[in-house]
Amino acid sequence: MGNHPIGIFDSGVGGLTVVKQMFKKLPSEEIVYLGDTARVPYGTKSPETIKKYSVENADFLMKFKVKLIVVACNTASSTSLDALREEFNIPIVGVIKPGAEKAVQITRNNRVGIIGTYTTVKSKAYEKEIRHFSRDVEVVSKACPLFVPLVEEGWLKEEVTFDIVKKYLKPLRVKKIDTLILGCTHYPLLKPVISKVMGRHVKIVDSASSVADEVHNILMALGKLSEQKKPAHKFFATDAIEHFVRVGEKFLGTKINRAERADYV
Ligand code: DGL
Repeated sequence: MGNHPIGIFDSGVGGLTVVKQMFKKLPSEEIVYLGDTARVPYGTKSPETIKKYSVENADFLMKFKVKLIVVACNTASSTSLDALREEFNIPIVGVIKPGAEKAVQITRNNRVGIIGTYTTVKSKAYEKEIRHFSRDVEVVSKACPLFVPLVEEGWLKEEVTFDIVKKYLKPLRVKKIDTLILGCTHYPLLKPVISKVMGRHVKIVDSASSVADEVHNILMALGKLSEQKKPAHKFFATDAIEHFVRVGEKFLGTKINRAERADYV
């Protein structure tokens, strides 16, 4: 089973920031990526709807006999992990726990900020995970719903982007946090602007690299690390393949040679 692929899904292209880290840290693993571009955004939908979508996405990935699934979407991770773990008998890895753990490790003043979609922030999933690791950390969270469309549009350094980021992050600056979790897989592309607005003393946590470490540890413990020399990755989207490829390449930082439509939606 070591050479079976790893399945990864997101509501769209954001999860490719996680794939990028997986390529870097687990180069022998074959990845099957699914972006649910037909139903994006998840961030404004109800937990029940997101659970239903997540189970359908995982069902699709199971057809490829995946050995583990990464839920590379904070919104789906914050609402659907329990439902997925009940339904599927393979390890399911979310993006919330690794980011929460990292933030608790690196904060010095015990003030951590979280930014994400409305649904992620409302779920309080990060707060709950942070409490597992420390009771002393004060958490300040803020939904930033305009960040996803800005990233999808490729407006990463425009003046308007800077102004919007500044406005959303003001309450976090006032609270003098020293660590900020990017609680949405789209946000790493805005990291330079976010960092500029928050100041260099604020450490930015992007769960993608911690997730890749967690996947490595799980597969290692199970004896299921792959030994493939040239894994053949597969990319699927539920709609608008061209847009998925064009924007997706920015997230991934490399070319997507082929993407196919997943037609269960
Ligand atoms: N990538 C999703 C997340 O991490 C955000 C996009 C959406 O709202 O679907 O939460």
